[in-house]
Amino acid sequence: GKTTAVGARAESVDAVQTARAQAGDYLTTAQGVRLPDTDHSLKAGSRGPTLLEDFHLREKITHFDHERIPERVVHARGAAAHGTFTAYGNATAASKAGFLQQGRETPVFVRFSTVLGSRGSADTVRDVRGFAVKFYTEEGNFDLVGNNMPVFFIQDGIKFPDIIHAGKPHPDREIPQAQSAHDTFWDFVSLHTEATHHVMWAMSDRGIPRSYRTMEGFGVHTFRLVNGDGATALAKFHWKPVAGVHSLVWEEAQLAAGTDPDFHRRDMADGIENGAPLEFELGLQLFPDSADETFEGIDLLDPTKLVPEELAEVQLVGKLTLDRNPTNYFAETEQVAFHTGNLVPGIEVTNDPLMQARLFSYLDTQLTRLGGPNFTQLPINCPHAAVNDNLRDGMHQTAVHQGVSPYLPNSIDAAPRPAREDEGGYVQVPREIEGRAVRENPVSFADHFSQATLFWASMSEVEKVHIVEAFTFELGKCYEQPIRERMLGVLANVDADLCAAVAEGLGLPAPAGAPAEVVPSPALSQVPPGPGSITG
Ligand code: HEM
Repeated sequence: GKTTAVGARAESVDAVQTARAQAGDYLTTAQGVRLPDTDHSLKAGSRGPTLLEDFHLREKITHFDHERIPERVVHARGAAAHGTFTAYGNATAASKAGFLQQGRETPVFVRFSTVLGSRGSADTVRDVRGFAVKFYTEEGNFDLVGNNMPVFFIQDGIKFPDIIHAGKPHPDREIPQAQSAHDTFWDFVSLHTEATHHVMWAMSDRGIPRSYRTMEGFGVHTFRLVNGDGATALAKFHWKPVAGVHSLVWEEAQLAAGTDPDFHRRDMADGIENGAPLEFELGLQLFPDSADETFEGIDLLDPTKLVPEELAEVQLVGKLTLDRNPTNYFAETEQVAFHTGNLVPGIEVTNDPLMQARLFSYLDTQLTRLGGPNFTQLPINCPHAAVNDNLRDGMHQTAVHQGVSPYLPNSIDAAPRPAREDEGGYVQVPREIEGRAVRENPVSFADHFSQATLFWASMSEVEKVHIVEAFTFELGKCYEQPIRERMLGVLANVDADLCAAVAEGLGLPAPAGAPAEVVPSPALSQVPPGPGSITG
């Protein structure tokens, strides 16, 4: 175990829970009554009917009948590990968050996942991978709920149910997109062309990672960091794998999905057990907190855009080491609840409309998935910081709260007091908010293709071949001819060669005529370097 104070507290939380469930030498009922036999039900004679009186039979079967909880609506397939985050200390100038301060060691739990498959699906399918990190900091839990790709399919979270409906197995036969018809996915992304950049990433080798230890991770959205003087900066979070970025080739991915559907989780668990921890460095891209929230012409609130590292260097600010396997898959990996709204002082959200919707979604879905509002008391979700809230009662309440006055102020109990900012209180930086209530995008969100083109142009020849093959294979599973043709029209906006190669693979003519109007983004060569180093 780790020697930090919070680490020690974590182990004691686990120990208390285990002591409740697995103490003593004898087999018992859940009520603690010792049992003489768990293999024979109580019957009226050895050939007689079973007696309703058999409390052990009833309890054993009843509990079994209720062992399952709903799998996650997305990211159902996952594997996780415990570890430690150690800060280099060079992020202090940008953020006052305690876990980023020099030498601070913070326990973490990280869950990697695919997005669309069910809990029992294969690891190596072409998909986005989740990269969710829970930092148990001394100032409360901070969750960085990211993916292995730096951009997202949609710009506004209100479309999230729609893209997921389009990507999940077809509702009639429940056959996953990855194995059969791909009509709905391609229908959606060809009609919502903001998805084009992310589709390029998904069809690239990034969509079939070799291992969890060779994936990059991204917070995707732009965050607002606040330092000890109250100064703010906009920032994007990155995870850089120490082992480098490596992918499978498509034939390997397909073979592994058949012969070892647990390929990625096995690599992680076996590696950790055999002394090969997973290692990543946390990086920050920093941008001035300007009024228009753009950087070099790139809208920082648009989650379909990245900021090229040539324009803003990724500055490494700490190291993540995953070196301990979970003890129990259900208790830890299945019951962990990540939430983009779990923030600590020094890290704030921005108005990115995708992020804003996520702030609602995670807690909401977990109320169903984990059966009510008290899942923060589960050991894996329990903060290692002191908790003193006025939340009470509810399903699965395990705390025995003292006192009679869970409200503030009160003149009866010794009540928790509100923390001022200098006592660690989470005080949002005051920001101007104005505008008419409208359902519309900023103009810059209309640029759907420039970064897809940039991505294509940055690929090596062999990577381009893989992308063409992936589009040809996946679109080849799209049985609706008009959707294929519409998608070729989208690719014409990305690159004429890409479009022609995929069209040839599909045996279709490449669309004629000029591609649709594209809003250009600034050429890299014309843009000055990013802001100075955060070390000052
Ligand atoms: C789950 C990432 C967008 C809703 C997850 C997980 C990750 C993730 C990594 C798995 C967490 C785990 O391991 O338990 C992302 C990223 C997004 C994004 C990087 C975009 C940048 C959205 C949006 C919504 C959403 C827009 C809804 C408006 C959910 C839900 C879950 C989930 C409901 C299941 C959570 C649970 O059951 O515990 N997401 N997501 N996500 N995400 Fe997202």
